[in-house]
Amino acid sequence: MGEGTRALAACTRGTKLKIVGPLGNGWPTLDGDGAPWVMLGGGIGSAPFYMAIEQALLGMDGARAAKREQLFYLYGAAKRGFLYDLEAFEKLGVPTFTCTMDGSHGLKGHVLQLLEHLQTRGVIPEKVRLLACGPEKMLEAVERHAHARGLECWLSLETLMGCGVGICNGCPVPTVPDGRHGLWPNMKCCVEGPVFSTADVTLCGMQHA
Ligand code: FES
Repeated sequence: MGEGTRALAACTRGTKLKIVGPLGNGWPTLDGDGAPWVMLGGGIGSAPFYMAIEQALLGMDGARAAKREQLFYLYGAAKRGFLYDLEAFEKLGVPTFTCTMDGSHGLKGHVLQLLEHLQTRGVIPEKVRLLACGPEKMLEAVERHAHARGLECWLSLETLMGCGVGICNGCPVPTVPDGRHGLWPNMKCCVEGPVFSTADVTLCGMQHA
């Protein structure tokens, strides 16, 4: 949707693009210490997880590398054909599970239902660290889920962006009202995100204290 997407879609092979990046902050360092990491990808929200898994298995920033069994990738989409590059994820060798809203691949339902399904069966422990990227409604639900269970959680967000470098204030994300940023109302998605801890920002007006 939108002018920029249309312009990109109209590009043919060989088109030259000018790109500014990388900008902002990515996932926390996915270390091999502490609770397992559960990655929740919704549709094209899968994109940032491939490299995250690769880096976690290598060990980045001096952190101990994660073992494959400390990483879980839960991939949801509306239907089977929207589980992009599923085979590539499976080749990374971390436990990968799918769900679709129409039941055409994996569990019928959304990623939080898949998570609960796996936790009920003892495949994934109750105490985990959550990472999520996908549609905003999904991210709101993940935030509520993390809040209700007292889990650490990071969300990769998207906003409209004007400058991308912190000048225009065009990409605000509301801070947790009683959180560590005090009365400061918004953070900038472009330079302080796009990945945020739910201890810092809220999509659904949560009070976290
Ligand atoms: S896009 Fe301009 S401040 Fe974020």
